[in-house]
Amino acid sequence: MPTITEIEDLKRIYKRRVPKMFYDYCESGSWTEQTFRDNVSDFNELRLRQRVAVDMTGRKTATQMIGQDVSMPVALAPVGLTGMQHADGEIHAARAAGKFGVPYCLSTMSICSIEDVAENTDAPFWLQVYTLKDDDFMQRLFDRAKAAKCSAAVITVDLQLLGQRHKDIKNGLSAPPKLTPKSVANMMTKVPWGLEMLQTKRRFFGNIVGHAKGVDDPSSLSTWTAESFDQALDWDRIRQFRKMWDGPLIIKGIMDPRDALEACNVGADAIVVSNHGGRQLDGALSSIRALAPIMDAVGDRIEVHLDSGVRSGQDVLKAVAMGAKGCWIGRAYIYGLGAMGETGVSEALRVIHKELDTSMALCGRTDIETVDRDILMIPKGFS
Ligand code: FNR
Repeated sequence: MPTITEIEDLKRIYKRRVPKMFYDYCESGSWTEQTFRDNVSDFNELRLRQRVAVDMTGRKTATQMIGQDVSMPVALAPVGLTGMQHADGEIHAARAAGKFGVPYCLSTMSICSIEDVAENTDAPFWLQVYTLKDDDFMQRLFDRAKAAKCSAAVITVDLQLLGQRHKDIKNGLSAPPKLTPKSVANMMTKVPWGLEMLQTKRRFFGNIVGHAKGVDDPSSLSTWTAESFDQALDWDRIRQFRKMWDGPLIIKGIMDPRDALEACNVGADAIVVSNHGGRQLDGALSSIRALAPIMDAVGDRIEVHLDSGVRSGQDVLKAVAMGAKGCWIGRAYIYGLGAMGETGVSEALRVIHKELDTSMALCGRTDIETVDRDILMIPKGFS
């Protein structure tokens, strides 16, 4: 196994192994990609305050997210088409998360279904649902999540309309990939990917195909997607979803304090401050800049998580110091998954944990639950 010391190592291997179409799908943001870039670079604006001669023995990164024990305040974010980055990718990621003691969140738009993941993993996982018009389909998704013993539902509220990613259009992204001379040539150069994909037994888009009205095979999926996302979504509709699911509920995709307060009012257990990894509103603030005003608005009314741009344990530490109860990572674990399946996801988690544990200690803290804004130097006008 190559020596992995940072997330960038996994990204380099990932890029070599996965067809360009799927690498680009992950490694891009909407339109000019300004927000996609800011998500990462704005973390560098925050500096950590070093302390010395503090007893650093007996460190603890374990805490809770939505009342569930986690070995560190990190969850794996829902990522569509994960099973195209590696065969059975959702199962590999869920297994790695379970073994590390952090939550895995399955996307509605996954390749492996809720049932595939439940049958092939031990730890409970979370299910992300998009806000769709079809009530029966929504109720069935929640019922399937209940039957699979999912320990939380996550409603993503920032995708009523799809932000445009130029590369996906130019690459003619589709799953399964369209077989053109160019795409075949690209896949042939990615031998490990091709061999793995031949071995997969899963049905494409297992949460949808065979479950949504009129979607009996993947070819009808793009029409379904275009017609099913609910552009008329409002907070009353989100209240209806709250009634369909009686377990812990997380609302993902909040960037404004007013929306955070609305989420408190619908009875969510947590929100995720997220701009979808820079894939939706290009020009939006980075999520780390959006965090503090949201924390100040909601106070103790709701648990706040953050994602978008987290690439290291230092980033997790900074977000926790700003007040987040935990971070979700997307691309950071997808790089590992595409590079080497479950082992790569475990490596991503190991790297982030080590960075978090060491940096926390060098800031003079030994328990993640005692980390606060005092360890940060925040530039004027940051938020
Ligand atoms: C996503 N994200 C996402 N979110 C969601 O709620 N449902 C989904 O199906 C997807 N799909 C998806 C695909 C890909 C390729 C990416 C990169 C992201 C957003 C994801 O959950 C998370 O918000 C971001 O990935 C966080 O940003 P970073 O950590 O990737 O920078």
